Amino acid sequence: MIGRFVHYAAACLMASFISTSAFADSAPDDIIKYRKNVMKSIGAQTGALVAILKGEVEATDSLAAHAKAFSASANAVLITGAFKQNTDGQGSEKTTATAKIWSDWDNFAATAKKLEAAALEISNAAAEGKLTSFDQLKPALAQCGTCHKDAGYRTK
Ligand code: HEC
Repeated sequence: MIGRFVHYAAACLMASFISTSAFADSAPDDIIKYRKNVMKSIGAQTGALVAILKGEVEATDSLAAHAKAFSASANAVLITGAFKQNTDGQGSEKTTATAKIWSDWDNFAATAKKLEAAALEISNAAAEGKLTSFDQLKPALAQCGTCHKDAGYRTK
């Protein structure tokens, strides 16, 4: 009887721990590594699309699948979710993210949304067999440039 109560109490404690931890910050190094993975997946699909559309690799049959994966990876929920925790000056994991991300959050989030919209257009065009030129990537690539250079969200 007492044993059962203890189990019950332990389960309640566990449940409250899990529900509060969902709102707690992650360890800085863990969230930095996580967001770099989120970015790398966008970078990987972008690199594949560029290589195919520039004719460097003969993989036209894979174009639509890459475009779909690009659109899935460039989801604004993933980007803003990966960056919402301010890690400025924290952790020892190498990062190129600048403090401006968090002081200028609304524009950062809006740029992520613009990338998502541009990536969706690319994916839709590819699904119809209409992704044929590198120039069609430019509206999406412009958003990489906004965050990485123009807006100063990255130190290189
Ligand atoms: C909303 C802003 C934003 C957009 C849009 C954006 N990036 Fe990034 N990206 C960042 C920031 C900030 C970092 C630095 C992350 C860090 O070092 O912690 C980064 C880092 C990266 C990295 C390096 C990841 C690593 O391993 O360190 C790659 C690759 C990358 N981005 C690719 C892209 C590509 C390709 C696009 C466009 C298709 C893009 N990003 C669009 C903000 C953005």
